[in-house]
Amino acid sequence: MTDADANIDPVPSTASAQTRTVRVDLGERSYVVAVGSELLEFAGMLVRERLGTKPRRAFVVVDSGVSAADRQRLLAGFASVSLDATVHELRATEHDKSLATIQKLCESMTKARVERTDVVIALGGGIVGDVAGFAASAYRRGVAVVQCPTTLLSMVDASVGGKTGVNLELSGTLKKNMVGAFHQPIGVLADLATLATLDDRTFRAGLAECVKHAMLSAEFGDPDLMAWTQTAAGALAARETAALCELIARNVAIKARVVAGDEREEAEGTTGRALLNLGHTFGHAIEALPDARGMRADGTELPGAIHHGEAVALGLRAACALGESLGLDRGYANSVLALLDQLALPRAAKGLPATDEILARMADDKKSVSGVLRLIVPAAPGRSVIRSDIPAPAVRSAIESIRSV
Ligand code: GLY
Repeated sequence: MTDADANIDPVPSTASAQTRTVRVDLGERSYVVAVGSELLEFAGMLVRERLGTKPRRAFVVVDSGVSAADRQRLLAGFASVSLDATVHELRATEHDKSLATIQKLCESMTKARVERTDVVIALGGGIVGDVAGFAASAYRRGVAVVQCPTTLLSMVDASVGGKTGVNLELSGTLKKNMVGAFHQPIGVLADLATLATLDDRTFRAGLAECVKHAMLSAEFGDPDLMAWTQTAAGALAARETAALCELIARNVAIKARVVAGDEREEAEGTTGRALLNLGHTFGHAIEALPDARGMRADGTELPGAIHHGEAVALGLRAACALGESLGLDRGYANSVLALLDQLALPRAAKGLPATDEILARMADDKKSVSGVLRLIVPAAPGRSVIRSDIPAPAVRSAIESIRSV
């Protein structure tokens, strides 16, 4: 069996009647994202179905926060398909998402005698997926990777689409995702059971990426996603399995369509992958600030650093303010803000530096071209556009809209 004619369906249909699958259509690099309960057990079978009999070893990169039970479920599935497993544990911090960690991982793979035909399995959140995926892209010039995301955020975003990479730290400043590669997985297993151990704040942070997708969804075949998310908000907050499965499958479908249309983020206009950056240029500029704190709708402060998803939620608020100043319907903008409130995502941030400093950080974002800000602006319900011509005063007011004193 060659890679080209390998079966890309990662789970037998008997695995679970509730499993939803979404295909990411990328020619010979196509793969399937499976969403459902108790899928980790099938990772070994997925490797055999996609890669045949050649792989002998699975090199498992596991987030130190993943429960023993979830690790065990994954490892149990390897024995039945005669795959030897080596486990490498990783701390999932932005500081550890570094070239030094890639070096350690590659050394560990060498010691474990991982060969070109073997496979890397990433079990964890977005950081572990990015780091393990990048190591897989580079080790022996590339080995296959299976993504097993364990946070909502990584299920709906980071594990799908093949972006991998690490941060650089220059003079104490963290430059996010500056070194990396496009390396599509051979399959993604989004196992809902892994979400049970997530703390509430981390879980909710993932919902921000879902609101982002809903703000793009009309262009990508699901114009009702925003309305459905509003209706399902209570069930989602309660982590009801059926609602989560529907949410993740529909969000992955949006991401899959975006990626299929512009895998390497080269397109402009209304359909490019850069649209997925909605809320992120604002978000990245405030996320890494040591004194910044998220503020809840009731005026209380969220302790500690702002999570990535929370920064995205604040970025979506700023993007709505920007959209409104450029003609976006106020009723729609308010419905997005109300949904972010419903999902208990932060309403503002305190401890922010001067607006011009935030603006400078945004211009320094790696998505800027020649220092010119490229922003994604909501233009209509479910539609956003990529723009490089936004006047600075409009961006300043958008930043001010999320500032809390
Ligand atoms: N997370 C944005 C992208 O995959 O393009």
